[in-house]
Amino acid sequence: MSQKRKFETNAIRTQMKRSQNREHSSPIYMSTSFIFEDAEQARALFADEIPGNIYTRFSNPNNSEFIDKICLMEGAEDGFATASGMSAVFSSIAAFLRSGDHIVASRSLFGSTIQILTQLLPRWGITCTFADIDQPEIWESLIKPNTKMVVVETPSNPALDIIDLEWLSKICNKHNVLLNVDNCFATPYLQQPLKWGAHIVTHSATKFIDGQGRAIGGIIVGSKELIKEVRFFCRHTGPALSPFNAWILSKSLETLALRMDRHCDNALKLAQFLEAHPEVEKVKYPFLQSHPQYELAKKQMKAGGGIVTFIVKGGLERGRKFLNAAEMLSHTANLGDSRTIITHSASTTHSKISEEEREKVGILPGLIRISTGLEHIDDIIYEVGQALEKSK
Ligand SMILES: Cc1ncc(COP(=O)(O)O)c(C=O)c1O
Repeated sequence: MSQKRKFETNAIRTQMKRSQNREHSSPIYMSTSFIFEDAEQARALFADEIPGNIYTRFSNPNNSEFIDKICLMEGAEDGFATASGMSAVFSSIAAFLRSGDHIVASRSLFGSTIQILTQLLPRWGITCTFADIDQPEIWESLIKPNTKMVVVETPSNPALDIIDLEWLSKICNKHNVLLNVDNCFATPYLQQPLKWGAHIVTHSATKFIDGQGRAIGGIIVGSKELIKEVRFFCRHTGPALSPFNAWILSKSLETLALRMDRHCDNALKLAQFLEAHPEVEKVKYPFLQSHPQYELAKKQMKAGGGIVTFIVKGGLERGRKFLNAAEMLSHTANLGDSRTIITHSASTTHSKISEEEREKVGILPGLIRISTGLEHIDDIIYEVGQALEKSK
């Protein structure tokens, strides 16, 4: 009798077909194209009459293995792997929209996603209205006859705002609008947006999915029907993930559950430490009771994730001193690494949007984002504590 395999088992046991070499671990298929056995097979492959690899811009065994795993984790039918999280975000929008269409987007989004929505898509006649997290009652009224998509991140980068996906998907379905969710901060281990009714999910696989700060990548998943559109767009515009990075990312997924448990454990303990610290003005973490959407986070997510933000007393100057006082903590523009990372969002990832727009989503000048790593929690707390002391 067979039983439905669990998340961790799928992450480890989903593998491409073994080759004639009988390898145990999946090899890397660094091959641009694939041989046709005969003219008829070539014709049938190009005509989509039979499945199979043709050219790595379209598909590749390593990319397929990575996609298969994420689909099982997200409860998705199909997916397409991209060269970065941003190519996933862009392709997941551009594949469906055309000139004259409109998007409703959460105001609380990653900086480059905001740039796509405000600077790039308008070039092709696609407009966007931003909706505030603290005014859910008006979101539905922002949907116009030409609205085709709602774009959100939950939890958002770096504001850690949480959006009720069950509520939002009902609104989207009522108006026949696609709900596109960037699930980068939660990972499929903590949250599966499709189960709450979302239509499309994207990831920056660069973050917790790789988990070790090595490889850039992204992925888009959804129903077969929707991914058909994404595949058409990506096949001809070329944002495919490299097979080498797909191999790294697929291997990384084997330990995603283990790593996320530790990231979340460490992040909660760090958030509790910061909340009790006299030099800290405010802390935000989805699984802290003080988070404005704590109950929703508990409903939607298995745990609070690896990211904690805080505002140090003394504003921007003190924040800069904190960054400079940090010793073991990495001061770099990434997150989701085994090493704890500190970032000043206002001057880096969100520097291209105006101060007014930043403040609307709580990115205050003194806000520090910590991507809690996998080091021993005692050492992380010691390092954060000493940087707070030194920066006084
Ligand atoms: C929420 C979110 N989406 C997308 C991206 C972009 O990912 P990438 O750097 O892989 O292009 C990031 C990067 O930080 C992110 O935080």
